[in-house]
Amino acid sequence: MAQKKAPSAKKSSTEAKTAPAAVKNTAAAAKKAEPAEKKSEPVAEKNAPAAPKPEAVAEKAKPAAKKAEPVPVKTEPVAQKSEPSAKKAEPTARKAEPAAKKAEPAAKKAEPVTKKAEPAAKNAEPAPKKAEPAAKKAEPVTKKAEPAAKNAEPAPKKTKPAAKKAKPVAKKTASAAKKTAPAEEKVKPVTENPAPAAEETKPAAEQAAPVTEEPKTVVTEPVQPKEEAPMEPQYTTPRRSIAFIGSECHPFVKTGGLGDVMYALPRELVAENCDVRVILPRYACIPQKYQDQMVYRGEFYMDLGLTGRSYYVGIMEYVHDGVVYDFIDNQEFFSAGNPYIGLVDDIPKYCFFSKAALAALNYMNWIPDIIHCHDWQAALVPVYLRTMFQNSPVGHAKTVLTIHNLRFQGIYNIPTLKYWTGLPDEVFNMGAMKQGYEDANMLKGGLAYADRITTVSYTYAQEIQTAEYGEKLEDHLRYHSDKLRGIVNGIDYGMWNPATDPALAVNYDITNVLEHKWQNKLALQQELGLVQDQGKFVIGLISRLTNQKGLDLVNAIIPQVMDGNTQVVVLGTGDKEYEDTFRYYEDAYKGMFSACIQYDESRAHRIYAAADALLVPSRFEPCGLTQLNAMHYGTLPIVRETGGLKDTVQPYNIFNGDGNGFTFDRYDAGLLLDAINRAKTEYFVNRYHWDEVVQRDMAKDVSWSNSARQYKDLYLELTPW
Ligand code: ADP
Ligand code: GLC
Repeated sequence: MAQKKAPSAKKSSTEAKTAPAAVKNTAAAAKKAEPAEKKSEPVAEKNAPAAPKPEAVAEKAKPAAKKAEPVPVKTEPVAQKSEPSAKKAEPTARKAEPAAKKAEPAAKKAEPVTKKAEPAAKNAEPAPKKAEPAAKKAEPVTKKAEPAAKNAEPAPKKTKPAAKKAKPVAKKTASAAKKTAPAEEKVKPVTENPAPAAEETKPAAEQAAPVTEEPKTVVTEPVQPKEEAPMEPQYTTPRRSIAFIGSECHPFVKTGGLGDVMYALPRELVAENCDVRVILPRYACIPQKYQDQMVYRGEFYMDLGLTGRSYYVGIMEYVHDGVVYDFIDNQEFFSAGNPYIGLVDDIPKYCFFSKAALAALNYMNWIPDIIHCHDWQAALVPVYLRTMFQNSPVGHAKTVLTIHNLRFQGIYNIPTLKYWTGLPDEVFNMGAMKQGYEDANMLKGGLAYADRITTVSYTYAQEIQTAEYGEKLEDHLRYHSDKLRGIVNGIDYGMWNPATDPALAVNYDITNVLEHKWQNKLALQQELGLVQDQGKFVIGLISRLTNQKGLDLVNAIIPQVMDGNTQVVVLGTGDKEYEDTFRYYEDAYKGMFSACIQYDESRAHRIYAAADALLVPSRFEPCGLTQLNAMHYGTLPIVRETGGLKDTVQPYNIFNGDGNGFTFDRYDAGLLLDAINRAKTEYFVNRYHWDEVVQRDMAKDVSWSNSARQYKDLYLELTPW
């Protein structure tokens, strides 16, 4: 871990001074400095890999310049409401200059408020108004318009909300109806269904207030009326509504597997009779083509912790394939070119995001049965929900917190987290957020308050309860083990399909893989300047270049792997030491080793298709998606038996030919080399058996369907009405 620090660690300390957050903090600010240093490693990792996707990266370049005038940016969102798509264009552009803003944080902040028009007043007494959001929502359908007036009678939340929902997605309409029914039956305190919930729960409505502030113009352009209600599918389980809350999601922003899961699982849940809404930050680095398709859904002001300020929360909506994506807009927090920057920026950012996401649900009057949050960035959601939001409409939802990577926890000193969250003192005890003598751990708090904890494989669920993999939370996890379970990830068969993948030189499927796969190998060799020879054994490695991924093992054995008949292709970005190591090998083994130090989604697809084997020798791996992609493309994985790698790759058995790939257990370079040599032997000596495994892997079910059903069962377990 130590190695990672380098890049991001520096940042943290530097930015500490500039960051707006720091400024406000006064006393707290000082403390931050130290903790930042300590924790820097974990942070560093994320940041490093932060190497945003191809698209994101591209954009970043430009925005960087603009960032200068942050204030103005914020204002736009409001304006945009009218003509959503058109406006968006500008916001993105401006985002860039965050740096400048930070300089005079206090000052800026003030302005944003001002611009927005009447918000200033509201902010003063945020609580009082809050109630109205509900009301507005009611008419959103009708379209914005007389916002102010409406606010007056918050109570009227009247049932309209139901109507609203309908718009976002045509399907919902139908579904909404269903939900209602079951909801009624339930014994729950307050209905979860948006519409009813609002009415019944007056008190709730009020609570919403604290958080929410009057949405000025309650606009609400109907979200692209997608399809008409399709023919009623035959569902075997009752309908449930789920709000996904997380920090990244393909194709908007992705730095690793979390982005894949946030994309694929909601889509699969729609097929499992779920009404799903995904709540994400509206980062400036989201490709413009998506920004342009977002529709303004509303806005309000929200207080945050002990800052004494009222923060703008805009909601931009995008609907695709039955899933509604709601982006939380606030350029003060989301204007950087990367989703992750460093603790000093990220801690306040995700404190804001988690609270704003809940406030937005109240504001939209869309109260889900389940709130499913992901990783430390959204881990405060269950904590806010069971404290500040407990008596608001959304307080009736159950929560599931999924750990995608325990290494990242969101740790900072207690004063700073109190400052940014305003959470009550009892939350900062050892059973919840407190860690050690002076730190607060956002993930730890979420684990304590969530109704269920999941992680992305069965084996990792066991491993994290041990000191070796527990990242210092093993005791806490063992304490909560009764609500912890592992559900392995899958891959989206639409996104990963060698028969239709537009990135490939030649498409193929299980029936003709042996005739066509090698053509992709030749094409990739040409693309990367490698010796073109279909007889070479090509090993791929697609990964964030971090300590987690076992790259020191790879580094140690490359000279022995490069035997003249083997080629290695590395695609990844991350820690400089690894990037430089692979660049060195590219130079040392010209024509046989390719180091693609970049994030390139389509090149990744081509490597999965062209390589014979894919290396995943991870030190720890919660699930791992690259080995799943590889198998689905007929590329045999060579993995370490840990976490999800152990659960998804059955070791090849040379005696009976069973298995999916080549594995080794202990974290040892010699064992990795042995696994690679066993793979080579099968490839060069027993090609017939190798080919059998290729086809077996392509036939293996690594889709989301089975796992999505397990999540649905979990949701039903929490909402047994
Ligand atoms: P992690 O989430 O720990 O990074 P996973 O295996 O779960 O690892 O997911 C990694 C995802 O990111 C996969 O979809 C993989 O194809 C993709 N990926 C990783 N590095 C790159 C890269 N440099 N270019 C393109 N895609 C990448
Ligand atoms: C994390 C883990 C990875 C997992 C992914 C999606 O990034 O490192 O193993 O596949 O999340 O859950």
